[in-house]
Amino acid sequence: MKLVLIGLRGTGKSTVGKVLAERLNWRFYDTDTILQERAALTIRQIFETEGEASFRTRETAVVQEVAQTSDAVIATGGGAVLNPENVVALKNDAFVVHLSADPSELWRRISQDTASHASRPALLPGTSGPEELRKLMLARASIYAQARDAEVDVEGRTPDAIADSILLLMRTHGKLPH
Ligand code: S3P
Repeated sequence: MKLVLIGLRGTGKSTVGKVLAERLNWRFYDTDTILQERAALTIRQIFETEGEASFRTRETAVVQEVAQTSDAVIATGGGAVLNPENVVALKNDAFVVHLSADPSELWRRISQDTASHASRPALLPGTSGPEELRKLMLARASIYAQARDAEVDVEGRTPDAIADSILLLMRTHGKLPH
């Protein structure tokens, strides 16, 4: 059994994932972090030098690998579920939680996070900021909806409070002993 976090950038998948892994005493995998360590490049550098398609190939390799694990929490990159094969692999023996928030709130969080801000590539040429997030949200809404078992709104909530909600959902869905 594994717990998979999906959702747009800025929803706190990595932060909440770490909290949950500690609470569950499970391992934690962050697909963006593993990918960057393996490539010895930032995501932004990969997008700039190799293009998005190459990034997605690298991402699929990492996702397919970590999806085989159990007793693990997996924080995915926001676009990891664009590949239907990744959705199939991630959903196998898993509880998939979609973290969501209003794009303006996501932009507020992302722009405050200066370190990771520098390593994030542009995803939709011609748009940026909250507008880019709004477009991504619309484009991906049905993909996230099909991939998830549950959706959790993160707006205005601490990582601990979000983790509490997710653990409760896992119990009510019979994914954890009571
Ligand atoms: C992406 C989200 C990023 C990262 C890459 C592409 C996306 O991950 O994988 O920049 O397509 O939404 P985070 O969601 O962890 O920022």
